[in-house]
Amino acid sequence: MKIIKVKDYQEMSRLASEQVIDKINNTEKPVLGLATGSTPEGLYQNLIDANKNNLVSFKNVTTFNLDEYIGLASDDPNSYNYFMNEKLFKHIDIEPSNTHLPNGKATDIEQECQDYEDLIKKTGKVNLQILGLGVNGHIAFNEPGTSFSSRTQKTELVEETIEANARFFDRKEDVPTHAITMGIESIMESEEIILLASGKNKAKAIKQLVEGEVTEDFPASILQKHPHATIIVDQDAASLLE
Ligand code: GLP
Repeated sequence: MKIIKVKDYQEMSRLASEQVIDKINNTEKPVLGLATGSTPEGLYQNLIDANKNNLVSFKNVTTFNLDEYIGLASDDPNSYNYFMNEKLFKHIDIEPSNTHLPNGKATDIEQECQDYEDLIKKTGKVNLQILGLGVNGHIAFNEPGTSFSSRTQKTELVEETIEANARFFDRKEDVPTHAITMGIESIMESEEIILLASGKNKAKAIKQLVEGEVTEDFPASILQKHPHATIIVDQDAASLLE
């Protein structure tokens, strides 16, 4: 696992965008794994700017997002579908049919999870997966205790995650209690992974991710075992590292 320490959020976002652009420009049919949350917003803005300046095109790019809340339609402003459209997709030259997120309104959630897995497999593999980090060590919506051999599945959000994500909703009670998430094993199959973390509130989680033991109690720790995982952290998020 490679650790890159940078000064601040801007530098983290810039470096991540350079790596994404590099991957797109050097892969024939690039498949990106994308994340939501506040952390990758700066990266997405940089990608929009680079696309506008003709430094990168998304015409051949396919994307798969990590997760979606169960119960929210894709046009719900709190859904991850909506977030991705607003923060990235509608501003770049990507083919909308090449962008994929789980359907949180599917009538058969189990089938939806299976279909999502199958679609990723049919496309090949994710060449570059972007990850954020939950304060409790979750990646995507894989909460502590999730099996390392999990695949795309329905998951129940823990209180800590509901609280952390309540800032996006009018009321905490509006945060969905369940989500569809790519599993740990599905994520680990990506060719390359870049995890981004910024700010003091991620410092403890980053320390555990980098220096702690590899355990299902702290899902992100599995990245220590990935052959091409890079963690880009700003000074605040890296402040507790030895
Ligand atoms: C959510 C998402 C994760 C994300 C995490 C951290 O729970 N499901 O994919 O990494 O939040 O979010 P933030 O970047 O806003 O701290």
